[in-house]
Amino acid sequence: MAVRVVIVGQGLVATHFAVGLERIKAGELEPYGVPLARYKLPYRIEDLEIVGSYDVDEEKVGRSVYEVARRLVGDILPVPETLKEIVVRRGIHLGSMVGLPFKVKGLEEELGSTKAAIERLVDEFKEMRPDVVINAATTEPARAFNSVDALLEAIERDDRDRLSASHAYAYAAYLYAKETGRKVVFVNVIPSPLARDDAIVALYEKAASLVLGDDGATGATPLTADLLEHMAERNRYVLSIAQFNIGGNTDFLALTVPERNKMKEETKSSVVKDILGYDAPHYIKPTGYLEPLGDKKFVSMHIWWKTFNGLEDELVVNMRINDSPALAGLLVDLARIGKALLDRDVKGTAYPVNAFFMKDPGPRGSRNKARIRAYYDMLQYLRELGVIEES
Ligand SMILES: NC(=O)c1ccc[n+]([C@@H]2O[C@H](COP(=O)([O-])OP(=O)(O)OC[C@H]3O[C@@H](n4cnc5c(N)ncnc54)[C@H](O)[C@@H]3O)[C@@H](O)[C@H]2O)c1
Repeated sequence: MAVRVVIVGQGLVATHFAVGLERIKAGELEPYGVPLARYKLPYRIEDLEIVGSYDVDEEKVGRSVYEVARRLVGDILPVPETLKEIVVRRGIHLGSMVGLPFKVKGLEEELGSTKAAIERLVDEFKEMRPDVVINAATTEPARAFNSVDALLEAIERDDRDRLSASHAYAYAAYLYAKETGRKVVFVNVIPSPLARDDAIVALYEKAASLVLGDDGATGATPLTADLLEHMAERNRYVLSIAQFNIGGNTDFLALTVPERNKMKEETKSSVVKDILGYDAPHYIKPTGYLEPLGDKKFVSMHIWWKTFNGLEDELVVNMRINDSPALAGLLVDLARIGKALLDRDVKGTAYPVNAFFMKDPGPRGSRNKARIRAYYDMLQYLRELGVIEES
C-alpha cells in the first residue's frame, strides 16, 4: 500500500529526498544512508509516494519538482522524469524567509488572512490525501505555544509575529485529520518547536495523529553525542567542547540571520548536559557561510578531557559532509515508521523515534541521549509494536 507524502519546503533536503527516492524505485541506487533499510518494515521504501509539495519562493511555486531539482542538483545527479508530475504549490509564508535574498509570497497575502490560508491548505490536503507531511522549510524564528487556546487565538487574531509557518502547517494537517478521519503524521525536521509544543502534541493526540520532531539529527551533532557518551561511560571529565560548522548552502545562508542561528544553537547545545550530566563549557553552533563549500559542509570538532591520574587528553575530528542527503536519507525511514505507528494507534508524539532521529526530541522536557543508545532503544520499541518484523 502506498504511503502518501506531502513536502513543505522544496529546498535541497526535500529535493535530495525526491530524487533519491525515485532513483531507488527505479533500481538505480542502493539505500545507503537510510538507517533501517536492512530491516523488514511494514512499508517498503518503494511504497513512498510524493503527492504534493509546497514552497513560497516565486522561483519554485508553479514549477515541477523536476524543474526545481534540475536547477538545484542537476549538475551532480540524474533527475528522474517522474518528478515532472509533482507541481510545487504556494504555501504559507508567515515571515519565514524575511531578510533572505529571495522573492517570496505566501497564501496569507494572496487570500488576505492566515486563517483563510490554513483553510486553503486543508482543502488541498483533502484532495491529496497525505499520510505524511514533512516540514523541511527554512529555519525560522518560532516559539512554542504550549496552550491550544493561545494557538487558536493567534490564528483568529491573525497574529503574524507570533505564529510561525511551521505552526500553521502543523495546524492545517491536524484540521485535515480531524475533518476527514484520516490520520496523519507530521514530521518536523527543522528547529521550530512542534513535537516540543504541548499544544500541537495535544491536538495531534485528539486526531489520533502523530507529530515527530524536532530538527533532524545529521552530521556533527549525533557524532558529538556518541563521543560524549564514550566520555561519560568511562567517567572522563570533559573540560571543553568546540564544534564548528561552515557550509555554502542556503540553509547556512539563512543561519547568518541571528534569530535563526539561535534556534539551531539551542537544539544543538542540549546534548551536552543531557549526556554528560553537567554542562561542560562548549561552543556548538553553525559558524559561517562560505559559498564555495556548497552543500558539502566543513565540520571540525575538539574535545578536551581529564583522564585517570589527572592527565588531560584531546580529540580532534575534521570532516566534509554532504549536508542535505544525510537528512534526506532519514526522511525515508521517518515517513515509513510514522505511517506504521499510525496504523498501530500510536498518537501524540513518539519519544523513542524522536530520540534517534531528532536533535531536540519531543515531547517538551525530553532528554537527549547518545544516538548509539537511542538506536537500540528505538529498535526495541519498534519490535514491541511489531513495526520491525523479525526475519
Ligand atoms: N542535514 C541537513 O541538511 C539538516 C539537518 C537538520 C535540519 N535541517 C533543516 O532542514 C531545513 C531545510 O534545509 P535545506 O538545506 O533543504 O534548506 P533550503 O534553504 O535549501 O530549503 C528550504 C526551502 O524551504 C522553502 N521555504 C521557506 N519558508 C517556507 C514556507 N513558509 N513554506 C514553504 N516553504 C518554505 C524555501 O523557499 C526553500 O525552498 C532547514 O530548516 C534546515 O535547518 C537540515
